[in-house]
Amino acid sequence: QCGVPEPFDATRTFKLYIKGADAADATRLEAAVSAAGLEYERVNRIAKRDFKGAFIFINIFPESMEYDEGYAIWTDPNGVSITAKTPAGAYYALQSIRQMVEAGEWQTGLIVDYPRFEYRGALIDISRHFRTVDFLKRQIDMMARVKMNRLHLHLTDAAGWRLEIESYPRLTSYAAWRTPHDWKGWWYGDRQFVEEGTEGASGGYLTKAEARELVAYAADRYITIIPEIEMPGHSDEVLAAYPELRCTHAPERQGDLCIGKEATFEMMQAILDEVIEIFPSEYIHIGGDEAGKGDWKECEDCQRRMREEGLESVDELQSYMIHRIEEYLNARGRQIIGWDEILEGGLAPNATVMSWRGEEGGLMAAEAGHKVVMSPHGYCYIDAPQDAPYSQPESIGGYLPLEKVYSYDPAPATMSEDVSKYILGVQANLWAEFIVEDWHYEH
Ligand code: ACM
Ligand code: ZN
Repeated sequence: QCGVPEPFDATRTFKLYIKGADAADATRLEAAVSAAGLEYERVNRIAKRDFKGAFIFINIFPESMEYDEGYAIWTDPNGVSITAKTPAGAYYALQSIRQMVEAGEWQTGLIVDYPRFEYRGALIDISRHFRTVDFLKRQIDMMARVKMNRLHLHLTDAAGWRLEIESYPRLTSYAAWRTPHDWKGWWYGDRQFVEEGTEGASGGYLTKAEARELVAYAADRYITIIPEIEMPGHSDEVLAAYPELRCTHAPERQGDLCIGKEATFEMMQAILDEVIEIFPSEYIHIGGDEAGKGDWKECEDCQRRMREEGLESVDELQSYMIHRIEEYLNARGRQIIGWDEILEGGLAPNATVMSWRGEEGGLMAAEAGHKVVMSPHGYCYIDAPQDAPYSQPESIGGYLPLEKVYSYDPAPATMSEDVSKYILGVQANLWAEFIVEDWHYEH
């Protein structure tokens, strides 16, 4: 509900009273008031007469509404009262205020708003082309402005490993560096890595301190960073750094981890131990997509594993790995989320599915009582051209105008409630094979 737009003097100094938030959340909310372009003076109480002057009153109390991230804003030409169940809700209220301030059009009256989905995500791929911490912070800022709350960081892939791991240092001293700067030159060239410090080497990785800094920066904006550690496919860079873990020990590059060798599990578990120490996210993304599975058919270790575990197909072999990793993470209080290929060979009991090849995987998972994030490529892969392809920078192909992205409904009215109740939300993915420069990323 909105009243008529009225002029609003945003240049005054507002009395800011924040009630019901602890010191950390109050600081976050103050920062959002500032970012909205409003001057303020923090006060410890607000009197009746203050409501006649310029005021911002933020009141957080759990009984105020049903929705965790919802808010109500009551505005008049003097000021704003915000009521929310949680600090995140109040933060979103301030994003709406910011929109009004920037538009210069002040809606007086009552606004009540809450998100339809608890998961509102974006994926940033820093494997194909590495990005700086400052760049990532800028994207987090943009996400916060539009009330998105999950940043899925694609940290590992064939083109480079991007997170410091102390127990396996060659992941970043070697598998994070290459000489052709652009992915295309590398992918269609020799696909080799070089030692860190090599002249002309391009790439990089997040140190643990940098990753923690990003986690905190995102948390200050009510965004959770979900790290993705790909397995067993899309792992060429892992095997380039640790070739002894290849199935066949052949010198050719291999993309899938060997599931027959215990050393693979020792490595992935040690990596995950370090990952969960950095990222407090309940969800850890374990990839699971596009494994070739061919090497497993030739590998003695993989074949032995299949015999010993009674696995009848390589799909079941992948599923065996995902089950084991799920158990490992569940025992440490975390949940796995993976691309929809983790359905093949049998879904791990507590897994959440990210449906990318379309919606079918997500629907199958939801029907089986698993949580789902919808990210079908036809609507959510925003690395496609957004206008007439000849007018756009080089991209992976396709055609995806903004209108089509916005038209996507992950849980339309035609979906039965038995299924839609498992749809956590939606995610847009910006893969970066063809996105070399920052401007293109932001385009
Ligand atoms: C994916 O696009 N392979 C998840
Ligand atoms: Zn193997």
